[in-house]
Amino acid sequence: MSKILVTGSNGQLGRSIKSFEALYPDCDFIFTDIDELNICNPDQIDQFLQDKRFDYLINCAAYTAVDQAETDYKNALMLNGTACLHLAEACKKHIVSLLHISTDFVFDGTKNQPYTETDVPNPISAYGRSKLVGENHIQQLSDDFIIIRTAWLYSDYGHNFVHTIRKYGREKGSLQVVHDQLGSPTYASDLALVILEMINQDCPHKGFYHYTNEGVISWYEFANEIIQLSGINCEVNAIPGMEYPTAATRPAYSVLDTTKIKKDYELEIPFWRNSLIKCIENLKKESIS
Ligand SMILES: NC(=O)c1ccc[n+]([C@@H]2O[C@H](COP(=O)([O-])OP(=O)(O)OC[C@H]3O[C@@H](n4cnc5c(N)ncnc54)[C@H](OP(=O)(O)O)[C@@H]3O)[C@@H](O)[C@H]2O)c1
Repeated sequence: MSKILVTGSNGQLGRSIKSFEALYPDCDFIFTDIDELNICNPDQIDQFLQDKRFDYLINCAAYTAVDQAETDYKNALMLNGTACLHLAEACKKHIVSLLHISTDFVFDGTKNQPYTETDVPNPISAYGRSKLVGENHIQQLSDDFIIIRTAWLYSDYGHNFVHTIRKYGREKGSLQVVHDQLGSPTYASDLALVILEMINQDCPHKGFYHYTNEGVISWYEFANEIIQLSGINCEVNAIPGMEYPTAATRPAYSVLDTTKIKKDYELEIPFWRNSLIKCIENLKKESIS
């Protein structure tokens, strides 16, 4: 039986992993968030790993407020960067395999082909820089790690683009959405199942992996599909990014190459629209009940 610690488990990815707990009766999960285990506290991490003897630690905790990070870099760095140093040190000491999640925002988005795991990061936002610091700490300290870079994460839970578009779509007659930033949405349930499948296979392959749903779209196309599938009566208009200024600069091209994870772990990745349909069906069920 594998013993698995999940940190940051009240967030989108953590809750998605938790929703599949019953599918893995051979795994003993402990789900924690900041109240049970603050990943910025190295003594608490050390004590937790010492007492409970885990095989795997899935780190879903992060500072994910991308725009806020521009003016709050100290806190973003502490959670996305320094905390990864503490986690990697404790995992090494207590012989725990570390699975960590990173982001497409470590790249600058100037490429016009999907980013592979060997492309050199060059973040253009404070959030991206803080996540890169975390990646570097883990890579420098540990041989027993998997870092999955993902992008455009949404889920049945919490704040994300799907929820925001549905909310404003209902409230307003029209929406303006950026058409010149391209990427691939990722349904957190799909990513959760991939992480659990990697553990199910005993993580025979380590290092960096890229994972998103299949397909490349703009935020405008994504928003349009969310509105259509939700049956909301709202016009979606395409605008250039320069007409929607944000504190943090976003990469224009955020597509991640998922060839390596598909090959090493023999995975098939769902197409983004099929996963969006699942999410919206779940949200519709929730709003009925
Ligand atoms: N969201 C995206 O679009 C996106 C895109 C690419 C990559 N990623 C990466 O994917 C991963 C999962 O993202 P997500 O969207 O699931 O994140 P999330 O919903 O923001 O969840 C993060 C969780 O970590 C908790 N947390 C905050 N500080 C903590 C601490 N000191 N110790 C323990 N837990 C703490 C948060 O609690 P509070 O809510 O109380 O702060 C929250 O429950 C992250 O590594 C993120 O960088 C996300």
